[in-house]
Amino acid sequence: MSGPRGGAVVTGAGGGLGRLIAALLVERGHRVLVTDVNGDAARATADGLGASWAAVDVRDEAEVDAARDRIVAEAGRLDVWVNNAGVLATGPAWEQQPATRRLMLEVNALGTVNGTVAAIEAMRSAGGGHVVNIVSLAGLTAVPGEAVYAASKHAAIGFSLSTLADLRLAGIEEIDISCVCPDGIWTPMLHDKLGDPASALSFSGRLLRPEEVVEAVRKVLDRPRPVTAVPGWRGVQARLADAVPGLGLRALPLAVAQGRWVQRRMLARSRRRGGRPED
Ligand SMILES: NC(=O)c1ccc[n+]([C@@H]2O[C@H](COP(=O)([O-])OP(=O)(O)OC[C@H]3O[C@@H](n4cnc5c(N)ncnc54)[C@H](O)[C@@H]3O)[C@@H](O)[C@H]2O)c1
Repeated sequence: MSGPRGGAVVTGAGGGLGRLIAALLVERGHRVLVTDVNGDAARATADGLGASWAAVDVRDEAEVDAARDRIVAEAGRLDVWVNNAGVLATGPAWEQQPATRRLMLEVNALGTVNGTVAAIEAMRSAGGGHVVNIVSLAGLTAVPGEAVYAASKHAAIGFSLSTLADLRLAGIEEIDISCVCPDGIWTPMLHDKLGDPASALSFSGRLLRPEEVVEAVRKVLDRPRPVTAVPGWRGVQARLADAVPGLGLRALPLAVAQGRWVQRRMLARSRRRGGRPED
């Protein structure tokens, strides 16, 4: 892509990681459309950044397409689309309500499909662009306590890589798709999970600061890569566990115990701080 920067859309950008990614795109000179299912949150993010906003539920294809059309109308073309919206409900699949399982699959998997397809349509007519999908290490390996979430993130990664292959087979070299797969990040998604044993694995590595993931997004914007794990060594660990599943499954109780230990330590610290989450 050359010339002045065009438009960018971030889904689920009313808070957490999405808000910081929207700020990064504004800083890089894009005209940004901040979207979230929570319109008030999207508006608050956009107001703070001098961006525009729209209430968009990523499960709804028509709303996603309308956001795409709006940024093309406002900015002239679409350069970057970030599928960031996500939901996490923990616990074994058989203990979850059908509506909860459906929500995770629809937001995390179908939402990524809707955003990617909408973006590709605009990028094909504009001569190129970059879709960045915020996935998770849960898209690369087994995560006890987060089975349906892991299923939705595996779907997001399988779809992204297959679509990238389809683009190349169709001779379309100017559109990239990059998946960013972070370990646990200290965002609102995990703020209420310190007492939740089912989410222990999210705490079993070094909990990431959202800024570290934004840095990874900055790097893929400069140099697209199909899959980036954050941190890299956890990606290697996840892929090794996946290459030898029998061995990986036997090692999981150790990782879960480590995550529980971190959760208890953080919970005790937050109680000492009068219930305030860590910074
Ligand atoms: N926090 C973590 O530990 C972690 C780890 C790996 C990956 N991720 C992924 O990072 C992304 C951002 O998560 P976060 O940690 O900032 O979480 P978050 O809960 O702080 O933010 C998620 C945002 O998505 C929005 N959203 C939910 N359903 C939506 C829908 N149907 N349509 C549009 N927006 C919707 C929410 O309103 C919220 O603003 C997610 O895809 C998540 O799965 C998070």
